[in-house]
Amino acid sequence: MLSQIFELVRKATMAASGHNTQPWRFAVRQNVVEIYPDYGRQLPVVDPNNRELWISLGCALENLLQAAHEAGYVYSVRYPEAAEHISIELEPGESPDDNLAAEIPQRQNNRSEYNAAPIPGSTLEKLRSTALEPGIMVRWLQEPDAMQAVESLVREGDLAQYSHRAFVHELIAWLRFNHREAEAQKDGLYSRCSGNPEAPRWLGRLFVAAIRPQRQADIDCRKVRSSSGCLVIASDEDGRVAWVKSGQVYQRLALTMATHGITSACMNQPVEVNRLRVQLQSTLELGTFHPQMLVRFGYAEPMPRSLRRPLEAVLIVE
Ligand SMILES: Cc1cc2nc3c(=O)[nH]c(=O)nc-3n(C[C@H](O)[C@H](O)[C@H](O)COP(=O)(O)O)c2cc1C
Repeated sequence: MLSQIFELVRKATMAASGHNTQPWRFAVRQNVVEIYPDYGRQLPVVDPNNRELWISLGCALENLLQAAHEAGYVYSVRYPEAAEHISIELEPGESPDDNLAAEIPQRQNNRSEYNAAPIPGSTLEKLRSTALEPGIMVRWLQEPDAMQAVESLVREGDLAQYSHRAFVHELIAWLRFNHREAEAQKDGLYSRCSGNPEAPRWLGRLFVAAIRPQRQADIDCRKVRSSSGCLVIASDEDGRVAWVKSGQVYQRLALTMATHGITSACMNQPVEVNRLRVQLQSTLELGTFHPQMLVRFGYAEPMPRSLRRPLEAVLIVE
């Protein structure tokens, strides 16, 4: 059983995480897995409240639960209410066979331009019926007005973030400009995964530091326009538990889309800039729900896969 549980943890580490920081540690105690935040991997500029860090832990949780069902386990989850970790108790049992585990290695955050093809109505209906978590809602956006609104918020987000030196410095710290850097760290944002060429660190750094905010905004707006649609995940609360559940729903939707050959990517700049987050909330008439993730989706060729640290690097050994 123990080796099976380690395999579930390995699948959890294949989840999405902000800047591919992989901000998680796992403890395995017999049939219980605990997921802890790794605060050494925070993003203090883009994520000062660790909101996205906890969303990332929710993504890892979702992969672990899907893989647990595939392996024939049932589970109960304790969310980080009092404790600062997530706890999953696993028992062999009759688990549903419609799990999404087969998509775990296929899913990726695909930052390329998509082909703008519409998603068939029947597929969209299936996507929209994806089970959510309590307190979480998803707003699907495809109408031209809504897509236009997203585009202009993404533009403003890029203009704000790329004019902020600390944001650019933090981004550079997590960029892996060439194969050697990517392989050495096995985390962060490897240029090839975003469709960029390899470069020595000194050159990559100069290049990114010199990007004009307007140019980045143009690139990202084109990406929004190339997408079949966007969605926003929002939650009734804005604390740890809601963040974890938002991460679960995001990962579940990305896996579900992958089963239909649909790719997706986060575009969170409007959620990361406070004033734009408020604007997003009112433009989409989310009421008191807090936007957590902005995602675009559509059809595109796969990109090179991002790397992960090995299991030994994320296990807490006592
Ligand atoms: C909370 C969170 C926020 C993210 N924000 C962005 C974003 O704004 N832009 C982006 O391109 N990717 C974003 N990502 C995607 C990560 O960069 C991606 O998951 C990571 O690089 C690993 O790559 P993979 O998902 O292809 O395995 C985000 C992921 C998470 C979980």
